[in-house]
Amino acid sequence: MEALATPLLEEATGGRDVLLEMDLRRGQLRRNLRCALREAIQDGRLATGTRLPSSRRLATDLRVSRGVVADTYDQLTAEGYLETQPRQAPLVAGVGAAPPVAEEPARLTWAVDFIATTPDVELFPRRAWIRAAERALRDAPNEAFDYGDHRGRIELRRALSSYLGRVRGVRIEPERMVITQGFTQGLDLISRVLLARGSTEIAFETLSQPNGWATPEAVGLRVVGVPVDGDGVRTDALDALGAAAIVVTPAHQFPTGVVMAPERRADLVAWANRADRLIIEDDYDAEYRYDRNAIGAIQGLDPCRVIHIGTASKTLAPGIRLGWMSLPDTLIDEVRAAKAAQDSGSPSIEQLALAALIDSGDYDRHVARARHVYRQRRDALIAELGRHLSGLPIQGAAAGLHVLLRLPDSVDDVAVAAAAAERGIGVNPLSPMSRAGEPQRGLVLGYSRLSVERIETAVGALAVCLADAGVAKRLTAAARGHAVTVPLAQASSS
Ligand SMILES: Cc1ncc(COP(=O)(O)O)c(C=O)c1O
Repeated sequence: MEALATPLLEEATGGRDVLLEMDLRRGQLRRNLRCALREAIQDGRLATGTRLPSSRRLATDLRVSRGVVADTYDQLTAEGYLETQPRQAPLVAGVGAAPPVAEEPARLTWAVDFIATTPDVELFPRRAWIRAAERALRDAPNEAFDYGDHRGRIELRRALSSYLGRVRGVRIEPERMVITQGFTQGLDLISRVLLARGSTEIAFETLSQPNGWATPEAVGLRVVGVPVDGDGVRTDALDALGAAAIVVTPAHQFPTGVVMAPERRADLVAWANRADRLIIEDDYDAEYRYDRNAIGAIQGLDPCRVIHIGTASKTLAPGIRLGWMSLPDTLIDEVRAAKAAQDSGSPSIEQLALAALIDSGDYDRHVARARHVYRQRRDALIAELGRHLSGLPIQGAAAGLHVLLRLPDSVDDVAVAAAAAERGIGVNPLSPMSRAGEPQRGLVLGYSRLSVERIETAVGALAVCLADAGVAKRLTAAARGHAVTVPLAQASSS
């Protein structure tokens, strides 16, 4: 059977082709045209009210006699599929309404959103992005619409290499960068390269973000944990490590919020050289430091040992899906090949837009603005935690988008988070973030989506949950009041 995407129906459907499956053998034509049109009406490809081409026009386009089309139209009119009026082409009648579209399940949103992994997407700099995207589209050379260099657009690699040098102390030339879909794809690509080189294990800090473990595990690597203390990853535990690489978050450890101490940074790099290992630096939220300038990336200490991975997910929005890898010479060809094998390169127009955003200074201006907002939210959160939950230790440098509220070992933090969820409060428990050893208890409190005005209510509501769990015994009267003021999960998150 020959399937025709008949261009003549373009006119009838407002410029869109409609596929009519038809057998063009002589003798079958009448029946087949009738069936094809009937099916297109029944399944909604030809919607109610669509005007079909005139019988003359359809006959010409199908290269059949006009009588074949006129008979078909008559028959379908008799069957109620078409409505005809004198001297007018027929209209599709009401029988062919499109099948009901399945409802997408509603995205879970929280009345109080302490989820730590996302920034406030309401701050996304729409106007600046529109300007950048417009400039990108206007100035893009034609070759930008073709398959390109699998490392990504040179304009973006240039913009990032200069930005990263200026802001993060990363020492990188554009030639050694690969643009990715966020940190996640960077980790995926390097995991594949490690596996192809014969590695079986990759190490993560423990505690760390469990979503991160899934990526190398899906590739086939085993994930092992290296403990973290108040100075960052425990470098004295590294010599026993068999893994070919370790993923670290030195600027702001996730989830403890610890900034890696200078001697640990030096020890880590020394170990990598001594043991011939790689360091994967997840620089996910380093732009947000509130009490001083951010500490530089470890990559700047040793660009031959450290793979630096950055992302737009915290500075702009996770939906942008852009990240960047700064790679040692020895890895660039393999990572580029892995990227080519995976998706033939990231979308070029988005890359050009980000390059334009950075080059114009709008990216820096946006980050500065967001930093100001988040600092206020963090200050308000710390103040409210002090008021409502003063007995519980708060951990984490004045940086990033979250703090860690420690709970006593006897408290089931997963149960507390589940009880909070029942009341419409989204919060991540700490213990599932342990890869090894005794799980530590706590709640990771993201503040990026809580406006200063909402924070008192949010902390009050959380305090009620903790009081129910027997943690916050001396609940303040103010917190008690929030037991009834916080609605269950609903549409608004900030
Ligand atoms: C520790 C950590 N690293 C990286 C990321 C960013 O991942 P991606 O760039 O793939 O969105 C996140 C996001 O939540 C994170 O929590």
